[in-house]
Amino acid sequence: MARIIDGKAIAADVRARIAEGVLAIRSRSTLHPHLALLLVGDDPASHVYVRNKGKACEEVGMKSTIVRLPATATEAEVLACVDAWNTDPSVHGILVQLPLPRHISEQNVILAINPDKDVDGFHPINAGRLLIGSPGFVPCTPAGILELLRVANVETSGKHAVVVGRSNIVGKPIATLLAQKRPQGNATVTLCHTGTVDLARYTRSADIIIAAVGVAGLITADHVKPGVTVIDVGMNRVEKPEGGTRLVGDVDFAAVEPLASAITPVPGGVGPMTIAMLLSNTLHAAQRTSL
Ligand code: GUN
Repeated sequence: MARIIDGKAIAADVRARIAEGVLAIRSRSTLHPHLALLLVGDDPASHVYVRNKGKACEEVGMKSTIVRLPATATEAEVLACVDAWNTDPSVHGILVQLPLPRHISEQNVILAINPDKDVDGFHPINAGRLLIGSPGFVPCTPAGILELLRVANVETSGKHAVVVGRSNIVGKPIATLLAQKRPQGNATVTLCHTGTVDLARYTRSADIIIAAVGVAGLITADHVKPGVTVIDVGMNRVEKPEGGTRLVGDVDFAAVEPLASAITPVPGGVGPMTIAMLLSNTLHAAQRTSL
C-alpha cells in the first residue's frame, strides 16, 4: 500500500503561504502582485484553465487581468498586448496561454515576454538559467513536482530518477532539476521518450518515476520495482464504460499503487500544484521589483 501524495492539500498549503506573502508585500508597499493573462482563440479547455488561474489569483489577494482575443487575432496584435504588459510597471507576471492558433508563432510570442515577468518560465533565458542552475523562473509543473517531493520527504540524492517524456514544459526541465546538486536533486537521471527501446527496462530500475507523456495508463505493474515513488503528470480524458469521461494519468494507478511506496493520484496530485506554483512565481516577480 502506497502513501498517497495529496497534491490538493499540499497546494492549499502553498496558496496559504502565498496569501500571507501577498498581505505582507501589500502592507509595507503600494505593490499589488498582478498577473496578466492572454488567451487567444476559443479552445474550451484553455478558457477553463485561464479562468481558474484568474480565480486562483483573486483567492490569494493578487490582481489578475485577462485579455481574450479572437482566433483571428494576428501575431502583431498578440505581440502588442505582450509588449504593453512588458512596459507596464503594475504588471508583474505575464502568461500567454498555449496552444496558440496555428498562424501565430509560439516561439515569437514567448521570446517577446520580458524574462523577468515570464512566470511560466518558458522564455529561453529562463530555460538557460534553469540549465546552468542560476536563479530564474522554473516552469510551474516541474516546480510543483519538486514541492511535492520536498513535502512528502522523498529522498532524491543518490537515487535513480526516470523521467518519461521530453517536453519543454515538463520532461526536460524536471530531468535537469533532479540532476542538479540541490535539495530535491542530486539524483541520477534517465530521460526516456518515444525513441526509447524497452521503456520498462529503465523504469524497473527507477527509485522515482516521473511520468509526463500524455498516454493513459502507460506505466503498468510491469514497469516498476517495489518501493518506487511515482509522480504522475498525465491528464488524459478517457471514455467511461457507462458514458461520459473521466480524468486519468499516465500511470495505471490500480495496478501500480500496491507496489509503490508513494504515488500521486490523478486528479488531485500534480495538477493542483501547477497553479499554486504559478502564483508563487508571480509573487516572487512582484517581490523582486521591490528590492
Ligand atoms: N497550456 C498548457 N499548460 C500550460 C502552461 O503551463 N502555461 C501556458 N501558458 N499554457 C499552457
